[in-house]
Amino acid sequence: MCGIFAYIGTRDDAPSVVFEGIKLLEYRGYDSWGVSYIPNIKSKKIMFEKHSGKIGDSFLKTTIKSKIALGHTRWATHGGVSDENAHPHLDCKGEIAVIHNGIVENYQELKVKLSKNNHIYKSETDTEVISHLIEDRLKTSDIKTSVFDTFESLIGSNAICVLDLKTESVVACRNGSPIVVGFDEKGKQYFLASDVPAFLKYTNKVHFLEDGEGVVVSKSGIKIFDIKSKKEIKAKIKKLDWQLEDAEKGGYPYFLVKEINEQPKTILKSSLINKDELDKVSRLIKKSKKIVLIGCGTASYAALAGKYFFSNSNIQSENYGAYEFLPFAKFCNKDTVVIAISQSGETADTLIAIKEAKKYGAKVVTIVNARGTTMERISDIILPIGAGPEIAVVSTKAMTAQFTILYLLSKTVENKYNFAINSIENLSKKLKLWMNQKLFDEIIKLVKEIDMQEHMYVIGKNLNYPGALEFGLKIKETSYIHAESFTAGELKHGVITLIQKDTPCFILASNDIVKNEVLSSAAELKARGGYIIGVAPFESSEFDATILTPDLEDLTIFGNIIVGQLLGYYLGIGRGADPDKPRNLAKSVTVK
Ligand code: F6R
Repeated sequence: MCGIFAYIGTRDDAPSVVFEGIKLLEYRGYDSWGVSYIPNIKSKKIMFEKHSGKIGDSFLKTTIKSKIALGHTRWATHGGVSDENAHPHLDCKGEIAVIHNGIVENYQELKVKLSKNNHIYKSETDTEVISHLIEDRLKTSDIKTSVFDTFESLIGSNAICVLDLKTESVVACRNGSPIVVGFDEKGKQYFLASDVPAFLKYTNKVHFLEDGEGVVVSKSGIKIFDIKSKKEIKAKIKKLDWQLEDAEKGGYPYFLVKEINEQPKTILKSSLINKDELDKVSRLIKKSKKIVLIGCGTASYAALAGKYFFSNSNIQSENYGAYEFLPFAKFCNKDTVVIAISQSGETADTLIAIKEAKKYGAKVVTIVNARGTTMERISDIILPIGAGPEIAVVSTKAMTAQFTILYLLSKTVENKYNFAINSIENLSKKLKLWMNQKLFDEIIKLVKEIDMQEHMYVIGKNLNYPGALEFGLKIKETSYIHAESFTAGELKHGVITLIQKDTPCFILASNDIVKNEVLSSAAELKARGGYIIGVAPFESSEFDATILTPDLEDLTIFGNIIVGQLLGYYLGIGRGADPDKPRNLAKSVTVK
């Protein structure tokens, strides 16, 4: 939550580089944004611009030349959405500027201590305390020590980036919230960001800061330190295989629709990268006595789908939303394998659940998309999903890649890896053929019929149950329509009272053993006046409308879910929502 970006280099348009960078981080928060910079011409103060509202709708006013700047896009926690609360936050003299991602849990306490020094506060944020703490320390220490010592006094998961006028440098620190350093090939430009896509245009050479690491960047170069000991450490530079086009819309109007359309490719790609790790996890599963799948939101639905895939491969498992796992963590032990699923690798509730499971001796396997994350570091084995940067806030291609890995894993345990790889290849081909203009036109036509409705229901059973949960979530997130998902079995136990004349009811189905049961549920809904929309690889007289999906046994749910993604997208556009940045959401939920 919140996006951080800093640039130091040879270009004279550092504020614009930063502005463009934080635009690419807007998925991390879009309540307000700000840019601060040190002009090339001598100045007595750091200059800045900050505004409430989405950066995507804004322009940077300054044309002042500068080689060093930092910027921030905010997801509000402490203090409302206002220009004053936007970052950066400066000290009283305007000589340092701070941007921050996280929550300073002890900021009240720190503020009380500081108040004796008559600092002038301009915002209601926890972040501003950091600026004044550094200001005080600078009276007796250099910038590196002042920032590092201040950072050490903060409680909570935080990342900060500090611009210092006097030394014309940037100092950044990480504990729990991500910062990645980008190095250009010639060693003359440096980037600091919450996530790689923000600077992918310039470089894919990176060092992921570890917790407890700090970095000092100035014109003369970059140094990485252990914050506590202040000893210099060597950068672990990696070259990522992410491409520039991963961070661009590539001709699509929104990242969301680009990422939905990428899925035939990303599903195939994620199936091809993990053979050795899959074997390793498969051996671990075979040795274990208990398997637990966890995740939050969409990733929790992937965890639930994993439970069905595993059961189909005769592997018993449990699943939890990571936010509800703690009461059950005590049942983990050294014979337990916890499989955590996450796009960002930074979700606070999933991290807490992993740490708790580890306390009881469980082995943790993480299925994750982003690179260099906290989850990667605290897990025993990583299964990267290789979906590439997912920039739209709403998860689509990461989710189907998670499904792919879980399916492959279940089949690997069953010694059917080759069969699974062929099935995924076939899935990718079928999806590619199916996701064409005809499908989009059918969905747009349907959207026009139902877009005035305030309530929709989505029904599925077996694998189509997690499918239905995800389908409903996509509609809710992107169109703000109340779309509730149920297992078909739940219907008669109360839910059916909600159905009125013309209520849209989506029936997610496959050619599986529960097909007839699900069709009976469709008939019951129809008898109460519901408008029945089949999302399935077959037609039925119970359906008033049908979106046909590829018929692929267990893998039919991929197409069924993609219909939900597309429906959410088109419903949202029609209702004036922003498909890439739905209200109130942040891509990376790094707070509890
Ligand atoms: C839904 C969505 C969220 C995330 C959830 C977990 O479209 O994106 O529900 O799935 O916040 O995030 P990760 O996967 O990053 O742990």
